[in-house]
Amino acid sequence: MPEQPELISRHDLQQQLGEVLPDINRSPGIPPACYADPGLLALERRAVFQHGWVGLGRADRWLDSGDYSALEIAGVPLIVVRNKSGELKAFANSCRHRGSQILTGQGNCKKIKCPFHWWTYDLDGKLKVYSRMENAQDFNPDEFGLVEFRVELRDGFAFTSFEEQPPRLDDWLAEFASFHQPWNLEQWHTTRVREFEANCNWKTFIEVFNEYYHLPMVHPDSINWLYPEPDAVDEVSGQFTTQFGATEGVAALMEDTQQYALPVAMGLQERESMGTRYTWIYPNMTFALSQDSMWIYQAFPLSADRCQVTQTICFPAESVELDDFEQRASHYYARIDAAIGEDLPFLQQQQVGLNSRFARPGRFGALEPSVAKFAYWYAQQLLQHFD
Ligand code: FES
Ligand SMILES: [Fe+2]
Repeated sequence: MPEQPELISRHDLQQQLGEVLPDINRSPGIPPACYADPGLLALERRAVFQHGWVGLGRADRWLDSGDYSALEIAGVPLIVVRNKSGELKAFANSCRHRGSQILTGQGNCKKIKCPFHWWTYDLDGKLKVYSRMENAQDFNPDEFGLVEFRVELRDGFAFTSFEEQPPRLDDWLAEFASFHQPWNLEQWHTTRVREFEANCNWKTFIEVFNEYYHLPMVHPDSINWLYPEPDAVDEVSGQFTTQFGATEGVAALMEDTQQYALPVAMGLQERESMGTRYTWIYPNMTFALSQDSMWIYQAFPLSADRCQVTQTICFPAESVELDDFEQRASHYYARIDAAIGEDLPFLQQQQVGLNSRFARPGRFGALEPSVAKFAYWYAQQLLQHFD
């Protein structure tokens, strides 16, 4: 059972989760308490983040040996680092001596050194340096390496799992590769990463990115004109949802900066050469993939009503090599930042409403199929771990 939900009884929670259906036309939404109740976080962490795979972002964020980030995924502090042989590694950011968090922030390091008593690990997590342990009988440093998590790469994205025996990533993602293969994403480069906190539940942040419904109301003068009615959401069996839509211009540029458009990625044909695929890899990594650029958001829960967001922007390798790339890319950054800046006040206001114990599950409109697909996936994950 979840620890002490405050906004909803356990009985009502279980019942409302059970009412979320795979059919968007009949299903209510996720119970609002799942966006607001601090007592439900432990259940959510276990059910949603500690089973299966979680996206770490683009692998080329950590380009050189020693590049690292200290991340926190639903209560688990971890270190992502590129080792000397060029592999991406993920370790629990908990020292094997007395448990201190070891690294903070991001940067480049030659070794992983705990600030507390200076136990020091190499980039493969092996304990290499420790002083004054001569008294510790049978102390074997080989048994005190950092706890390591599996890391796998697909299409330039890195994934990790907290499970010892996770499902096969190819089974988890299923048709993901075939839907995204035309863009040849392995060849794209990350050109900017930005982090910020948002005053909303992590799910609402990703939901608003995956629905066209709010565009005329929230983005009337900026990006609404770009997006005519999208295609139907694609039917997939993997742990993601994806929807393609043709666009009026380059989706990642404002109307008055369309002249800075970068070339269409090599190999894209027909509709994909003027449109955007919005994909949400469960639980918490989503991206918009246009003909010339990709912008990615990961939202990690800090509390029920606050999340840490990582925004990543990528371009095809051939665009990054252009002489005027930086200047043209700056217009992409401005458009992407402006749109999310318009969303944030609405998300904050949505959170105020969700925090009430009188909030009730809603229904989905025609332009929210990806939100509805996630809702069903999420409800099933919680119900499976409701013990
Ligand atoms: S807790 Fe890390 S060296 Fe003591
Ligand atoms: Fe938006």
